[in-house]
Amino acid sequence: MSHLTDEARAPFRGETDAVPGPGSLEAIVAENPTRRTLLRNGLFGLSVIPAMALAACDDDGSPVVTVPPTPTPTPTPTPTPPPSFAASFAAVAANQDDRVTVPNGYTVDVLLKAGDSVEAGAPYSGSFPASPAVAEKWAGGNHDGMEYFAIPGVDANSRGLLAINFEYPDFHILMNGSYNASTATPDQKALALSAVGIGVVEIAKGSDGKWTVQAGSTYNRRYTGNSSYRAAGPAAGLLSGSIKGMLNNCASGRTPWNTYLTCEETTDNYFDPTQPANNYGWVVEIDPLGQLAQPTKRTAMGRFDHENVAFMSSADRRVAFYMGDDSTPGCIYKFVPDRPWSDTNRAANTDLLDYGTLYVARFNGDGTGEWRALVVGQNGLTAGAQDPGNPSQSTTPPAPVTVDFNNQAEVLINCKSAARVAGGTVMDRPEWITVAPDNKAVFVALTNNSGRRVTDPANPRIRNLHGHILKFSEEGDSPTATKFSWEIFLMAGDPALAAGGDNLVGNIDGDTFSSPDGIRIDPQGRLWVQTDHSVPGNSGVSGTTIDQAFGHNAMFYVDQVSKKSKRFLVGPLGCEITGLAYTPDLTTFFVNIQHPTGNWPVAGEAPRSSTVVVRRTDNQPVGN
Ligand code: FEO
Ligand code: CA
Ligand code: CA
Repeated sequence: MSHLTDEARAPFRGETDAVPGPGSLEAIVAENPTRRTLLRNGLFGLSVIPAMALAACDDDGSPVVTVPPTPTPTPTPTPTPPPSFAASFAAVAANQDDRVTVPNGYTVDVLLKAGDSVEAGAPYSGSFPASPAVAEKWAGGNHDGMEYFAIPGVDANSRGLLAINFEYPDFHILMNGSYNASTATPDQKALALSAVGIGVVEIAKGSDGKWTVQAGSTYNRRYTGNSSYRAAGPAAGLLSGSIKGMLNNCASGRTPWNTYLTCEETTDNYFDPTQPANNYGWVVEIDPLGQLAQPTKRTAMGRFDHENVAFMSSADRRVAFYMGDDSTPGCIYKFVPDRPWSDTNRAANTDLLDYGTLYVARFNGDGTGEWRALVVGQNGLTAGAQDPGNPSQSTTPPAPVTVDFNNQAEVLINCKSAARVAGGTVMDRPEWITVAPDNKAVFVALTNNSGRRVTDPANPRIRNLHGHILKFSEEGDSPTATKFSWEIFLMAGDPALAAGGDNLVGNIDGDTFSSPDGIRIDPQGRLWVQTDHSVPGNSGVSGTTIDQAFGHNAMFYVDQVSKKSKRFLVGPLGCEITGLAYTPDLTTFFVNIQHPTGNWPVAGEAPRSSTVVVRRTDNQPVGN
């Protein structure tokens, strides 16, 4: 074959080679897509050998057979050991430093500060925004829950989308003085509402290993307290047709079809009280890819002071969404859609959260529990129902209040009352809930309830200043179960506080903490806890501040089995640690530092809430 023939064939070679035949890479991968990477790597070397035996042609076209040289055996490569996910990091000490402390061998970088650009425009640079429209494009304030999403066709370990909740403005970068909703000008209201909601940013890891926001990405988007939202589900008719804003976006979650669930931790619009209260207190579903429905308040999931959402999915794609009401006290809920979710047609899940059953958890004293349906006509949810009120904060029971539940919309709008009528247990402020990857355990952070005066088995402390973590298992490990078993996983506190009473001591094995808030089990089954003790705050012992007792708010690894606790990260002055997301390979963790009060993250500037990136310097999974 002459070089001309060779060149003449070249345009067709691609087509010919692309035809998948039996045993081809494409055919094998079609049967088992997970083998693609393995086969690509494994077959590449083999494809060279037949080429060496091809007949070449001399100048007159006669074939000349060349004998392939005896191949030199290549040494068998030493297989790369699989990464370790052991939580073997060297724990960091409690401290009150004005910085983010991470273990030796780790780095921490600031990714997105309040006032940084999300959508195209000038970021905060030390001056108040010239107009609300300017701030509307910035990262909002008080970063809280977040989730990391893959972009189709892109290696998610080095590029993806981060959806971040903004719970509350960092007011000091927005305006002078304090905000007063009753006297605020329209511009001041718009400024306050610009800094809540969520932001979606495309982020990527550079060759130096550092992650940056990709300015100009078409995915970068703010959804704020000034944006428009729709409502869907049984109570939609009692909400405005077009809703102004979402706010107090505290924690969050995701669906199995990779939409973002951002949660309103308020049942009114306290920045703009002219808006109808029924429009707030919902889970809002947003597609970070922008492919599905516009942002939608999913009323079937109930209206209360939502914390986060965590899902459990079975092999047949039935799914439950677990939620806590961070009230003093509030109940624990789950929503079970009527239909399984589709893993082949993402759009088929668009209204999955509008049809299903909402349940409230009742914790019995014998370690059993039951899910009671919040369905009109069931469990006492009728006209003239008797709401027992809040039985936990006073030894004098409150007088029952008559509440009418005439239809399912009224049950969902007045969900806290419906939960109490149905017999739900009022808990010590449920913050995050997390589900183990094998569906065998669900954990709830009950952050604290210093005002509790009447205990029950699941909330066993009066004056529960430091909180506890509860664990439950669904019957049959099934998301659709209506019964469960439960236990107290740990009581927070510190033995050094015994002088203030037994209720301050707890039983943490290892590094102690107060006020668990964020809690998340990563895909390797490792349990992470983030704390939010009040700053300034008291430890329960006169003369000892809570920071003196526990150090600054921090993030801990707690072994699910041994319950051993190790402090992983400590935040700067005044902050809460919250928000936890990660790349699929777990080599990058994203963590939020909320409301710092010192001189962090930029020396010499006012403090700003920020998302930080935590990595190991050797690129191994976080936790090693
Ligand atoms: Fe925003 Fe309940 O924490
Ligand atoms: Ca929280
Ligand atoms: Ca909290």
